[in-house]
Amino acid sequence: MAKEFDVVVIGAGPGGYIAAIRAAQLGKKVACVDAWVDLDGKPKPGGTCTNVGCIPSKALLQSSEHYEQAQMHFAEHGIEVGSIKLKLDTLLGRKNTVVDQNNQGIQFLFKKNKIEFIVGTAQFVGAENNRYKLSVSAGEKTIEIDAEHVIIATGSEPRALPDLPFDEKLVLSNAGALDIPAVPKKLGVIGAGVIGLELGSVWRRLGAEVTVLEAMPEFLAVADAQVAKEAKKVFAKQGLNIEVGAKVENVKVNDKSVTVTYKTAKDEEVSAEFDHLIVSIGRIPFTKGLNPEAVGLKLDQRGFIEVNEECQTNLPNVWAVGDVVRGPMLAHKAEEEGVAVAERIAGQHGHVNYNTIPSVLYTSPEIAWVGATEQQLKKDKREIKVGTFPFMANGRARALGDTTGFAKVIADKNTDEVLGVHIIGPMASELIAEAVTIMEFKGAAEDIARICHAHPTLSEAVKEAALAVDKRTLNL
Ligand code: FAD
Ligand code: NAI
Repeated sequence: MAKEFDVVVIGAGPGGYIAAIRAAQLGKKVACVDAWVDLDGKPKPGGTCTNVGCIPSKALLQSSEHYEQAQMHFAEHGIEVGSIKLKLDTLLGRKNTVVDQNNQGIQFLFKKNKIEFIVGTAQFVGAENNRYKLSVSAGEKTIEIDAEHVIIATGSEPRALPDLPFDEKLVLSNAGALDIPAVPKKLGVIGAGVIGLELGSVWRRLGAEVTVLEAMPEFLAVADAQVAKEAKKVFAKQGLNIEVGAKVENVKVNDKSVTVTYKTAKDEEVSAEFDHLIVSIGRIPFTKGLNPEAVGLKLDQRGFIEVNEECQTNLPNVWAVGDVVRGPMLAHKAEEEGVAVAERIAGQHGHVNYNTIPSVLYTSPEIAWVGATEQQLKKDKREIKVGTFPFMANGRARALGDTTGFAKVIADKNTDEVLGVHIIGPMASELIAEAVTIMEFKGAAEDIARICHAHPTLSEAVKEAALAVDKRTLNL
């Protein structure tokens, strides 16, 4: 007999487990199926984000930042620590502990919300009487389940270069890049996107000589151009060697190294040997093992599950959220879609505002933005006013000893509505939340400027940038 549920969620990443919790809160009988287990078969719910994404990368960024601070900046504070030794095993072990804590936290949440957590790979078997039949296999064991609604949250996987599969020893995806057993002397990275810059920064701080090869002629083209320019300058000063306009022509995997041959932007051929090569050139949707054909579930040409703006697929009561559907591949976007879908299933009016999804790079300095860039708005011929304020003129940043970067507020010239906020500097990841709130309420630059911000805080830089929109900064 198949086990029956109101809602079956496939995938326990941020899209899936959050959708399961919200559906359970709304009174549905819910199961969440996830295939991720460790080498001992222990379940690891949380998806890419928890296991090989957001959480472990932030743990390594934090540890490596402490290491760099201790080496380069403690002395300015009058703290002498003698010789500093890196224990990479401990550092990686701490990262694994943080991941484990998150895996356990999600299992606790499943129990708390009376969600049945099923470990295994779910596949569609068929549909009958407006219900979907699925099977879940784990090793030799297979169980049948049956649901009125199915939410697919199967996520994404790293994109490999043609003819260069990941071996996770020399050629690394994000998973291998989070677990290099010894700090490489020379580390190559293909792709100067979010992973390349975050994980490139981690290994540079730990002592590797890092070269990042980026195909596009422009650095960080997705960000505001002024922010990207500042970022490139700062990363170069830190010693991250970024080559834009690099065309990778050949990658040879040797016994203990990888040789990459590429053409530079000036058309010069370069051959470089690295101890490891991280390939971070984007991610692709993951639907392997789902057997969409059994029910006629439609994928688009790029392999994403096709959905409308409400995350409905071509099949009634089958929904899809997160990295496996269009839109930015971000954990918080997946979560928002998961909540909205659960609410729609329960007859409510869940909504995701795709215009106010923040983007963050957890490098140092951090980079965060929400809304449109100046170059986009100019291209769209919007009349705008721009205000910027440097952290150099912010008291808290000076006290922290971290004055790199600036906050930038872009507002409509006539209505003063905030259209985009871009921050490069300390704690930009936290500062951006205020901008998201203001934009969600369709607020104006003057609203930010008139709100009382605590002193001394970094958030005063955002307020001053809003004042700068009207050319009336107080501290510059
Ligand atoms: P996933 O998290 O990929 O989860 C999908 C789950 O479905 C997996 O557990 C998988 O095992 C399971 N699954 C797949 N098929 C089946 C099946 N047939 N049956 C059962 N289970 C199945 N985003 C941010 O917002 N902030 C960050 O700081 C950030 N850092 C990142 C760092 C790295 C290195 C990487 C790689 C990504 C990062 N991301 C970050 C992106 C983020 O991880 C993803 O956007 C997010 O995990 C997507 O969530 P999801 O639920 O759609 O899918
Ligand atoms: P990405 O899309 O951020 O960057 C990929 C980069 O590789 C681009 O700059 C692209 O121009 C370049 N590229 C593509 N093909 C290339 C080639 N052949 N040679 C050289 N360069 C090439 O993808 P990335 O870094 O792999 O990350 C995947 C996803 O994971 C991102 O879309 C992001 O949403 C998510 N992520 C989010 C994080 C965050 O929110 N802080 C952190 C890490 C990942």
